[in-house]
Amino acid sequence: MGLKTLLPLIFLLALSGLSSGKPLNNKCRNAPGDAGFPDDKAWQTLNETVGGGLAPVVPFVQFCRSLPAGECTEAQWTSGLFRSGIAGAMDMVNFEQGYDLTPPSLCFRNSTVCGQGNVPLYAVEAENVADVQAAVKFAADNNLRLAVKSSGHDLLGRSTAPNSLLIHMAKFRDMVFTDSFVVGGEDLGSALTVGPGVHLQDVFKESKAHGKIAVGGSAGTVSPAGGYLQGAGHSVISPLFGLGADNVLEFQIVVASGELLKANSVENSDLFFALRGGGAGSWGVVISATFRTFPNFNATQSVLQFAVDSNAAAGAIAGVHAKHIFALDAVRGGQYFFVIPSAELKTQTFWLQTVTANTTLEEGKALLQPFLDDALKVEGVTLIVKEFEQYVINDALYRADDTIAENSVMGSRLIPTEAYQREDAPAVVEKVYTELLDAGAGAIIGSLVAGGQVSANANISSAITPAWRTAKTHVIAATIWEDSASLSEINTYRHLFQTSHLAILEQLSGPNAGAYSNEADIYEADFQTTFFGPNYAKLTEIKAKYDPDDLFIVAAGVNSEKWDEFGMCRV
Ligand SMILES: Cc1cc2nc3c(=O)[nH]c(=O)nc-3n(C[C@H](O)[C@H](O)[C@H](O)COP(=O)(O)OP(=O)(O)OC[C@H]3O[C@@H](n4cnc5c(N)ncnc54)[C@H](O)[C@@H]3O)c2cc1C
Ligand SMILES: *[C@@H]1O[C@H](CO)[C@@H](O)[C@H](O)[C@H]1NC(C)=O
Ligand SMILES: *[C@@H]1O[C@H](CO)[C@@H](O)[C@H](O)[C@H]1NC(C)=O
Ligand SMILES: *[C@@H]1O[C@H](CO)[C@@H](O)[C@H](O)[C@H]1NC(C)=O
Ligand SMILES: *[C@@H]1O[C@H](CO)[C@@H](O)[C@H](O)[C@H]1NC(C)=O
Ligand SMILES: *[C@@H]1O[C@H](CO)[C@@H](O)[C@H](O)[C@H]1NC(C)=O
Repeated sequence: MGLKTLLPLIFLLALSGLSSGKPLNNKCRNAPGDAGFPDDKAWQTLNETVGGGLAPVVPFVQFCRSLPAGECTEAQWTSGLFRSGIAGAMDMVNFEQGYDLTPPSLCFRNSTVCGQGNVPLYAVEAENVADVQAAVKFAADNNLRLAVKSSGHDLLGRSTAPNSLLIHMAKFRDMVFTDSFVVGGEDLGSALTVGPGVHLQDVFKESKAHGKIAVGGSAGTVSPAGGYLQGAGHSVISPLFGLGADNVLEFQIVVASGELLKANSVENSDLFFALRGGGAGSWGVVISATFRTFPNFNATQSVLQFAVDSNAAAGAIAGVHAKHIFALDAVRGGQYFFVIPSAELKTQTFWLQTVTANTTLEEGKALLQPFLDDALKVEGVTLIVKEFEQYVINDALYRADDTIAENSVMGSRLIPTEAYQREDAPAVVEKVYTELLDAGAGAIIGSLVAGGQVSANANISSAITPAWRTAKTHVIAATIWEDSASLSEINTYRHLFQTSHLAILEQLSGPNAGAYSNEADIYEADFQTTFFGPNYAKLTEIKAKYDPDDLFIVAAGVNSEKWDEFGMCRV
C-alpha cells in the first residue's frame, strides 16, 4: 500500500478521533477497570447528592447471608413483598445469574462461592425526584449502564443488568385519590395517583376504603407505576374496563436529560403514547402514574381445580374449556386457566379462577355449570377444589403476597378470538396443550382478560399492539427448573420456547399473533412486531427524541436490537 492510499486513511482516523468530544470507546458503557469508570471519589460525591442513598448491590443470597441469622427464612426467600425491598433481588431467581457472562457468574442458594452474577454494582435507593435526577445524570455523564426497578417482579429479567447502576424506586409509596383529575382544563373524573413503590395490593386495599376499584392484575406486589402499565397491564376486570394502560390519564417521568416531565393527552403526548404499551423500562424513570378509578361492586369469585392423570387428560380438559370460552361474555367476566403442577399431588392440575361482576352466587355458578358438566366427563380428570364466594371486588383481587423465587422463563401468544370460533378449536387446543406438556412445558398459564372493553378500546391512540384488541386470551408456556440443573440443561430450557414451544402454540394462535411484552420470551426473533405490532417505527422516533443515547435499554425493548444482550456495547 502506497503513501497515497494511506494518507486519506490517516486523515479519516484523525478526524473520527477529533469529531466527537467523547472517547472513541463509547461504543460500550463503562465497566469497572475502564478509564471512564467513575473513581471512588465520584461515587462518594453521588452518594452525598442522593442523601447517603447509594449502596453496593449484592445477589440476594449474599444479602441473606448478611442478616443476623446468616440466612433468609423460607418465607423470606419466596416472598415477593420481602424481595421487592432489596436491590439485588429478582422474583425469578434465574435472572440474578450471569449464565452468559464469560466465565458464568453464579450465586445459587447453596453456592459456597458467589459471583456478582447479573445484579447491578450500585443502587440508588431513591427517595425523591432530585435523587432520581442525580442518578440519571450521573449515569449519562459517566456513560454507565443504567437499570430501573420498582418491585423486581419482571418475568424477563429487565430490572437488573450486570455492571449497572440501579435506580430502585421502592420508596415512592405515595397514593393520592381525587374525584376530579384535570388534564388540559378537562375534568377526567375519579382517579388515583401512585408512585412506583405502590403495589397492586395497596391499590386494591386503599381504593376499597374509597368505594373504588382500579384495573390491576392478579398479583400482590406488582407495581402499576413500574412495568405493569408500560407493558399494557391486564386484569380479570379488563373485559369490563379495558387494559390498565387504557385507563392511564397521566405519567410523571424523569427522562434521560434529567428533566421531570408530565406526559398526558396534551403535554408530551408522544411520550404518553409510548408509555402506554411501548414496553417497560425504555422511556425514563416513572415517578408516578395516574389512572381512572371506578365505583366498586360485588363479584362472584370461584376456584375450580382438577387433578389430571396425564398430559393427554390435561389437554382434553383444556379442549373442553375452549369449547366454553365464550360463556362469560354476557357479563364480561374474567378468568385465569392454568395447567400447573401440584406439589402435594405430584401431578399437573387444571386450575380455574373466575371473577364475574354483579352476579349472585347462583348466577356465578350457572355460568360455569356447562363447562363443569363437560369437564367431569373427561377421562383421567378429578375435581379436587370447588369454591364459589361473593366478595367486594377489591377483596377478590387482593393478594397478601406473591410466592415466587423459581427459576423460570416463558414465551407467549395473544390468542385471537377467531381462533376459538373455529369449529375445530377444542380439538386444536387439546392437541396444543398435550404437545406443550409433552415438550417439557412446566406450566401453561392462560388469562381470559381480553375481549369486551379491551376490544371496544381499539380506537384509543396508544402503543398497545392492536393484537390485544382482537384477542380473547393470552397464553404462556413456562419452563421451570431446579438449581441442580447443569448449565447446558439450563441453556436448553432458556431457549425452549423458540426451539420447541412456539411452533406448537402457533397451531392455535396462527403465525402472526402478537404477545404481551410483560409475559414473554426475551429471545423472540421479531420482538418488534410480536410485542409492538405496527407501532415500532413510531416508538423508535419517540425514543430518539426523549432518549437519544439509549440510556434506557432493556431486553426485547425498543432499540435493544442495537445493543448486545447486556446492554453494554452497541452492536
Ligand atoms: C406473580 C406475577 C403475577 C403477574 N400478574 C400479572 C397480571 O395479572 N397482569 C399483568 O398485566 N401482568 C402481570 N405480571 C407481569 C407484570 O406486569 C410485569 O412483571 C411487570 O413488568 C412488573 O413491573 P414491576 O415494576 O413491578 O417490576 P420490575 O421488575 O421492578 O420492573 C419491570 C420492568 O419495568 C421497568 N420499571 C420498573 N419500575 C420503573 C419505573 N419507575 N420507571 C420506568 N421503568 C420502570 C423495569 O426497568 C423493568 O423493565 C405478573 C408478574 C408476576 C411475577
Ligand atoms: C453512602 O453514604 C451512606 C451514609 O453516609 C453510607 O452508609 C453508605 O455506605 C455510602 N455508600 C457507599 C456506596 O459508599
Ligand atoms: C356488596 O354486598 C354487601 C352484602 O351483600 C352489601 O352490603 C354491599 O352494599 C354490596 N356492595 C356493593 C358495592 O354493591
Ligand atoms: C354493578 O351494578 C350496579 C348497580 O346496578 C351498577 O351501577 C354498576 O355499574 C355495576 N357494575 C359493573 C361493573 O357492572
Ligand atoms: C372510542 O370509542 C368510544 C365509543 O365507541 C368512545 O366513547 C370513546 O370516546 C372513543 N375514544 C377515543 C379516544 O376516540
Ligand atoms: C445445591 O442444591 C441442589 C438442590 O437444590 C443440589 O442438587 C446440589 O448438589 C447442591 N449443591 C451443593 C454445592 O450443595
